[in-house]
Amino acid sequence: MKNIILTGDRPTGKLHLGHYVGSLKRRVELQNSGKYDKIYIEIADSQAITDNAHNLDKVRENVIEVALDYLACGIDPNKTTIFVQSQIPELCELTFYYLNLVTLSRLERNPTIKEEIKLRNFETSIPAGFLTYPISQAADITLFDANIIPVGDDQLPMIEQTREIVRSFNNLYDNVLVEPKELLPDNEVCSRLPGLDGKAKMSKSLNNCIYLSDEPEVIEKKIMSMFTDPNHLKVEDPGKVEGNPVFIYLDAFCTNEHFKKYLPEYNNLDELKAHYQRGGLGDVKIKRFLNNIIQEELKPIRERRKEYEKNIKEVYKILEEGSLKAREAASIKMKEVKNVMGLNYFEDTTLIEEQVKKYSNN
Ligand code: TRP
Repeated sequence: MKNIILTGDRPTGKLHLGHYVGSLKRRVELQNSGKYDKIYIEIADSQAITDNAHNLDKVRENVIEVALDYLACGIDPNKTTIFVQSQIPELCELTFYYLNLVTLSRLERNPTIKEEIKLRNFETSIPAGFLTYPISQAADITLFDANIIPVGDDQLPMIEQTREIVRSFNNLYDNVLVEPKELLPDNEVCSRLPGLDGKAKMSKSLNNCIYLSDEPEVIEKKIMSMFTDPNHLKVEDPGKVEGNPVFIYLDAFCTNEHFKKYLPEYNNLDELKAHYQRGGLGDVKIKRFLNNIIQEELKPIRERRKEYEKNIKEVYKILEEGSLKAREAASIKMKEVKNVMGLNYFEDTTLIEEQVKKYSNN
């Protein structure tokens, strides 16, 4: 069996540190491991429209932002096919058939959708396209025979829904769809990086993100004003590291090398945490340390982004070529799917002969 990776993002804003530790960094490692037969990354603009139908400009403008962030992080279009969802009409076609394999009540049970409905105040009137986007996501995955889906844990219900569709389809028609499996970040803390304010998630609407394209001064300002332990008022006070976003970020980013370089009086994070818990360690010191680490991580990304920003036409060309390549694979798979569903009237000579025979006695 081939190992095919597919993942994607909705283009509704620039990508931030949460996207980076949760998935982008990993994608680049997977890409460079050379272990996979194919890698697809989808800019899911059609999915973004399911809750932005009245704000298409936002989606349209962010396609390029997301592409720039990918390239900046080291996604290499020679190794990874980056494509734009709306440019692959077969995805709509496949979604239309999958819609019949899923019930409304099954869709309404999806925990991620439930949470998103609340967040968007959709309770009284849910757009049908929004409720059914997990089905369209199943099409994204299966149209490319992807079996490995690197995602954060909020996407688990989508992968589960996809597996269910694959099983029903394969049972009903023929065994042509591949069951996907999620690939979660190996570091638990990377799965969901909290916001700068300590809220559960970095989110553009909460204004609690560090963006990959932020300038160094902006990053520093954001880190120095991060939420910490609200009871750690004086340096001597014992502090809490659990739920303290500064320490959660350190869990996600810091290595022993960073201590040697920026904070040599400690050997590792455990020692730093112990000191904080005991009391006598101020927030400013740990924030400065975190700032050094994040600056080091984001500098090459920001610089590469600036290079691509000088060549916007070329970036659109990369997306166009990736979409063409994806479309080729998609149309081959769509044909296979339609064949097993019997939607191949003009090529199925047996069908035609049967019908001829049936009417030949009249
Ligand atoms: N729903 C994903 C998100 O919001 C984006 C996405 C669209 C995706 N299609 C996908 C992720 C296919 C993995 C596989 O982040």
